[in-house]
Amino acid sequence: MADEMTFSALSEEGKKKLADNSKIVSEFRQKKLEKEAQKNWDLFYKRNATNFFKDRHWTTAEFEELLSLCEKSDNERVLLEAGCGVGNLCYPLLEEIPNVFIHACDFSQRAVQFVKEHAAFSEDKVNAFQCDLTSDNLLSHVPECSVDIATLVFVLSAVHPDKMLAVLQNIIQILKPGGLLFFRDYGLYDHAMLRFNPRNKLSDNFYVRQDGTRAYYFSKDLVETLFHQAGFQTLENDYAYRRTVNKKEGIDVPRIFVQAKFVKPV
Ligand SMILES: C[S@@+](CC[C@H](N)C(=O)[O-])C[C@H]1O[C@@H](n2cnc3c(N)ncnc32)[C@H](O)[C@@H]1O
Repeated sequence: MADEMTFSALSEEGKKKLADNSKIVSEFRQKKLEKEAQKNWDLFYKRNATNFFKDRHWTTAEFEELLSLCEKSDNERVLLEAGCGVGNLCYPLLEEIPNVFIHACDFSQRAVQFVKEHAAFSEDKVNAFQCDLTSDNLLSHVPECSVDIATLVFVLSAVHPDKMLAVLQNIIQILKPGGLLFFRDYGLYDHAMLRFNPRNKLSDNFYVRQDGTRAYYFSKDLVETLFHQAGFQTLENDYAYRRTVNKKEGIDVPRIFVQAKFVKPV
């Protein structure tokens, strides 16, 4: 319903642009993009190093809430940051939340290297490793049913829709029963989605950027369906409406994300 309301608020031109499949990316190029997905993320971090994403301090409040939902324990909490990039989520958490151990993995070897080179890196606190969440079994790096909280923050959108379920099935096996997953990603009709040229469209709600990295824009219904198929139960799942503001560059645009919390049944 909310999706329909947001869609009906779009201009006629915007609706036409989104529905335009006449210039869709060729099957040949789509296969190449899938084959080169890892290389393209690695080149992204070669170009941007640690300068692209900002530290995600907002997640600390979310984590405090998630920790309060976990079974009470004085033991160290174990987290998995799936698709950690260069550590913009895990290092603020390490700083602000005591007594945590973080498994942090990413597709890009270069990103993982940045995580390891961070001033706050310590093997006692962080297990950083490279992996493809769609095909490498997380059990080779993280013991089964050992993680209290996993995060997927702006990661599933980078994965081909046919492989999203495999990522969730991979993650659920390392969560403890009762363990939680925090999800945040791009929402349907987000400003960035509306800016794509129809030439960059791969399929419905899925686009490729200039640099070859891809972005999917989620409805909360799809998020719910995927997570339930993987065996999760929903605690929360909704759109988050925000603004991206950069006064220096004169930018002030509305953003739409999907934010959700799921639990692995006991
Ligand atoms: C938009 S970035 C977000 C990074 C980080 N989560 C953050 O919020 O700053 C997407 C990340 O997902 C990673 N990624 C994409 N596909 C992946 C896959 N199949 N397996 C593991 N990581 C993947 C990319 O390498 C990239 O670091």
